[in-house]
Amino acid sequence: PRTRVAVVGAGPAGLLLARLLHLHSIDCVVLESRGRGYVEQRQRAGILEQSTVDVLRRAGAADRLEREGLPHDGIELRFAGRRHRLDFPALTGGRRVWVYAQTEVVKDLIALQLADGPPLVFEAPVHAVEGAQDGGCTVRYTHGGRERALTCDWVVGCDGFHGVVRDAVPAPARQVHERVYPYAWLGILADAPPVHDELIYAHSPRGFALASMRSPAVSRLYLQVPVGTEPGTWPDERIWDELDVRFGAHADWRLTRGPVTQKAVLPMRSSVTEPMRYGRVLLAGDAAHIVPPTGAKGLNLAVSDVTVLARAFAHLHETGSATLLDTYSDDCLGRVWRAEHFSYFMTTTLHTAPGQSSFDTRLQLSQLERVAASPHAAAELAENYTGAPLPGEG
Ligand code: FAD
Ligand code: DHB
Repeated sequence: PRTRVAVVGAGPAGLLLARLLHLHSIDCVVLESRGRGYVEQRQRAGILEQSTVDVLRRAGAADRLEREGLPHDGIELRFAGRRHRLDFPALTGGRRVWVYAQTEVVKDLIALQLADGPPLVFEAPVHAVEGAQDGGCTVRYTHGGRERALTCDWVVGCDGFHGVVRDAVPAPARQVHERVYPYAWLGILADAPPVHDELIYAHSPRGFALASMRSPAVSRLYLQVPVGTEPGTWPDERIWDELDVRFGAHADWRLTRGPVTQKAVLPMRSSVTEPMRYGRVLLAGDAAHIVPPTGAKGLNLAVSDVTVLARAFAHLHETGSATLLDTYSDDCLGRVWRAEHFSYFMTTTLHTAPGQSSFDTRLQLSQLERVAASPHAAAELAENYTGAPLPGEG
C-alpha cells in the first residue's frame, strides 16, 4: 500500500496527528505495534493543559472531555508543615487545567478514527524505515504474521521513547541531551474518593508525594521510592501509611483508603533528541523527548508537537510549500525546552535525593517559601503548569 504520511504509533501523538491530518483531507495510515485493548488501558498521564483541551475541542475530540473532565483552577503545595494554594486563573489571566486521563483521550481518539478516519492498524509493529533522504520512504512492518511494506512521502515517529523511527536518523545527524534522576515513583490507582478537590504536591523529609485523581470516585497517588524498587515490596497498607505521613502536616489529616486496583514503579528521566526532523522523517512526542512526570508535561508536549506538525503538513498540502516542515524542529524545541526546565525544576525542588545535604534541603524550602510569598514566583510556576498558548491560538 501507499499513503502520503505514515504515522508510527497510536499513542496520543499519533492518534491526534491522524485526526488533524484527516480534518485537512491529508491521507495517512497509523501503524501500532500493540492491540487496541492494551493501548486503551495503559495507565499514564492525567492532566491536560488549557491549550491541549483547546486543540482537542478544535479536533472535535472533546465531547466526553466536556462532560467528564474535571476543570482545576489550582494546586496545593505542602512543605515544612504548611499548605499553600496556587490560584491559576488569577495568576495567569484565566488559564486552568483539566483532569482527564490519557486512557480516555486515547479511547476518544480511537473511536473517532475507527468511525470515519484514516486506517488505523493495530498489532502492526514497525521494524525499519528506509529512504529518509530519498524521494520517498518505505516503512517495513509485520501484520497478521506477514512482512509488509508501506510506501509514503513522509514518516512521523510517534512511537514513544522506545520507538524505532528515531533509528532512521543516523547517529551523527542527531544529538541526545539527557538527565537521569536518582529516584522513581510508585504510582497507584485506588477506588477511593480523592481527599481534596485539587492536586496536592508534597515535599517531605521522607520524600515527595502527589495526590491526584481520575474521577470523583478514583484516586491516583504517587510516592517517591528508590530506583529499582519492586512494587511487591509495598503492600497496600504500607503505601497508605507512608502517604499519610508525607502529606500529614496536620495530625487530623488522613487519606480516604480504598481497594488499590493498580500499582507500578516509574523511572524518571529527561531526554531530548535534536533535531526533530531528518529528511522525510519527523519525530513527535515521547519519540523525540521525555520529561520526568512531576508537573505533567509529557502528554501535553506530545499534543503541542503534533499540532505544529499538522499545520506544517496542511501548509504543504494547500500551497505546495514545505517551509513549515523545514522549521518544524525549531518551532517545537522552544516549548520542549521550557517544559524540560519546568519538569526538572518541579522534580528537583520537591524530591529528596539519596544522601541529600541539609544545605540542598534548605534551598528547596527557600524556593517553596518564595513561591508562597511572592505573586511573581507563584505566577512563574502557574504559567508553566498551565502552559503557554500554542502558535495561532488566542
Ligand atoms: P506513547 O504514548 O508512548 O505512544 C507511543 C505508541 O507507539 C505506543 O502505543 C506504542 O505501543 C507504539 N509503538 C512503539 N514502538 C512501535 C513500533 N516499533 N511500531 C509501531 N508502534 C510502536 N506523564 C504525565 O504527565 N503523568 C504521568 O503520570 C505519566 N506517567 C507515565 C507513565 C509511563 C509508564 C510512561 C511511559 C509515561 C508516562 N507519562 C506521564 C508521560 C506521557 O504518558 C507520555 O508523554 C505520552 O504518552 C506521550 O505520548 P506519545 O504518543 O508520544 O507516546
Ligand atoms: C498526574 C501526574 C503527574 O505527573 C502530575 O504532575 C500530576 C498529575 C496524574 O497522573 O494524575
